Amino acid sequence: MITLKSEREIEKMHNAGKLLAACHREIATMIKPGITTDEIDKFVEDFLEKHGATPEQKGYHGYKYATCASVNDEICHGFPTDKPLKNGDVVTIDMVVNLNGGLADSAWTYAVGEVSEEVQHLLDVTKNSLYKGIEAAQVGNRLGDIGHAIQSYVEGENYSVVRDFTGHGIGKTMHEEPTVLHYGKPGKGTRLKEGMTITIEPMVNAGTWHSKMDPNGWTARTVDGKLSAQYEHTIVITKDGPIILTEQ
Ligand code: MF3
Ligand code: CO
Repeated sequence: MITLKSEREIEKMHNAGKLLAACHREIATMIKPGITTDEIDKFVEDFLEKHGATPEQKGYHGYKYATCASVNDEICHGFPTDKPLKNGDVVTIDMVVNLNGGLADSAWTYAVGEVSEEVQHLLDVTKNSLYKGIEAAQVGNRLGDIGHAIQSYVEGENYSVVRDFTGHGIGKTMHEEPTVLHYGKPGKGTRLKEGMTITIEPMVNAGTWHSKMDPNGWTARTVDGKLSAQYEHTIVITKDGPIILTEQ
């Protein structure tokens, strides 16, 4: 069942989302060659605690960390590690913030030091694809319109959209209905209504979309070893258009 959120619920999610955005802005200043994803994860825990919030991912189905930190060919759900990031790496930091029961989910891919033009292009296309998906999230449109907007743009740039992981409804819990595919056909799927809160979180691969699972049972990576990037926002659908809850 898809729940439509009240104004009060949306405001709580927005407050969580603003804090999450502030946390990502801090991370952006920390990402440099030599830093470890363990250090970033620790920073996030402390930052959230200082602001009266908690990392919703920690303890979720036994997940041990505040963040997911996915480096290079890791698509999503990478574990933070004590291995220093290197110049030219890309790292996706994904987290869900709980502030007074309001939840917000946002991921960002960061370039470590200097990346090649090719890598920067992958990041740019992935971020643009998120905003194209958000633009399609209009009352009366359908979920397929969001997926199609993302897929047609990404494939037009000769990259691929990951199929094995999706966006989702979010509200009282991190994952609710509906499932938000980042590919699809225009005019197909569930109709979008005012008050729906969903994530849009395209994972875009430089090579094929196929993924394989690490032995840890969590971390997905590209089968061809090529890079993967991801940008994610939590949004609410309103009659005046989508509102991003995970920006300032
Ligand atoms: N933030 C992730 C998402 O976009 C959830 C990661 S799974 C977890 O759905 F277990 F780490 F929380
Ligand atoms: Co999410």
